[in-house]
Amino acid sequence: MEGNIFEKILGQDSLFTDRKAFDHAFEPSRLPHREHELDGLVRNLVDALNGHIPSNMLLYGVPGSGKTVVTRYVLRQLEEKGKEMVKPVYTSEINCRNVDTKYRVVQTIATQLAKRGDSPIPFTGWPTDRVLETLISRMDRAGGVHIIVLDEVDNLVDKAGDALLYSLTNLNTLLKNSRCSIIGISNDLNFTQQLDPRVSSRLSQEDIVFHPYIASEIENILVERAKMGIKEQILEEGVINLCAALAAQEHGDARRALDLLRISVQKAEQRAQTKVGIKHVRLAQSQLEYDQVTPVLKTLPLHQKLVLFSICLNEENGLRNISTGDVYRTYVDACKKIEIEPLTSRRVSSLLNELDTLGLIMAKNVSKGRGGRSKQVNSAIPKAIDAISLMSESETLIDEASLGKYRLQSHL
Ligand SMILES: Nc1ncnc2c1ncn2[C@@H]1O[C@H](COP(=O)(O)OP(=O)(O)OP(=O)(O)O)[C@@H](O)[C@H]1O
Ligand SMILES: [Mg+2]
Repeated sequence: MEGNIFEKILGQDSLFTDRKAFDHAFEPSRLPHREHELDGLVRNLVDALNGHIPSNMLLYGVPGSGKTVVTRYVLRQLEEKGKEMVKPVYTSEINCRNVDTKYRVVQTIATQLAKRGDSPIPFTGWPTDRVLETLISRMDRAGGVHIIVLDEVDNLVDKAGDALLYSLTNLNTLLKNSRCSIIGISNDLNFTQQLDPRVSSRLSQEDIVFHPYIASEIENILVERAKMGIKEQILEEGVINLCAALAAQEHGDARRALDLLRISVQKAEQRAQTKVGIKHVRLAQSQLEYDQVTPVLKTLPLHQKLVLFSICLNEENGLRNISTGDVYRTYVDACKKIEIEPLTSRRVSSLLNELDTLGLIMAKNVSKGRGGRSKQVNSAIPKAIDAISLMSESETLIDEASLGKYRLQSHL
């Protein structure tokens, strides 16, 4: 082969002008359609500059509705204004998906406030109270107002309970020379129901709900981002509309829309094409669906896989809307073929509910007359995805089960 294998690609003209504009961590300088939410945060946090303590807040909203990006934007500006007015404001953002114990959260905030000469707080090992005391003394040493953002806080509460929130919302009674305010962010609207009522009333002194974006709002977000990151005039008519419409169907998720647009451009680029069209968006959509569903399918426990396998097998044979009884019969046959003990039909019913919650199947209750009800199930996995093959790749027993013959038609 002549020349270096990277040369051809390196020399290729990119359709992007700035790929970073599509990074998930990119912070745009304008946030259209979040004026109301921004205003709510600003009106509360301005207290930090007026010598008062801002209320604790809870921000809710579906994934991709701008909670994180809006909060960061407001905090950067608050810090700037604080510096300008010589009113110290310290902000600390913790993502509770990554930092998910009380100890680690307190340790992380205290470490951010460390000064030269402070002894480091180990990642584990100290009694939690000692870490908390260190945090309090460092906050008081710094003075001013401390804003602590706990992003995706529902994860931490699911895992570790509400002890952290109890301690953090109690800090103002212990601080002598500083003040603190907590902002919790969650995409679960029912999150406070898991909390002790005292904690929930202290935390949600003020709530802001981020509404899902509608298609036209997502379009505006995409147009702005395209100007920043994509070459002019390469997007064919309808590309932005389609990305926005697909993401609006997906609960109004701006992240999904940006990903769709980015991958569409990449698809065109990979094919050395100079325009991005509807077909590239369709390819991007399939890839995103595939990337979303694959890890879920692969990591299902064996019996879940067998139940899903039974539904998919029926569908491959043209049988849709099958009853839970039919699913169970195919499932038992599959278990026999691979010589494992089937679960009871009651247990399989609850596995069906779990598959429904995961979004892999759709189960609907239908009336059978005379007050009787039964369930009909269908796969909700996009057609382009071969679920049985994917499950077989990660579980040889499914592969074995899929080789057998089934008498599905007899249940028609
Ligand atoms: N109004 C907006 N203008 C420009 N970009 C936006 C806007 N809202 C959201 N985005 C972009 O959409 C993506 C998702 O936003 P963000 O991460 O803030 O969502 P989120 O509500 O925190 O979601 P999650 O609940 O999944 O954490 C980010 O890339 C962000 O830059
Ligand atoms: Mg977020």
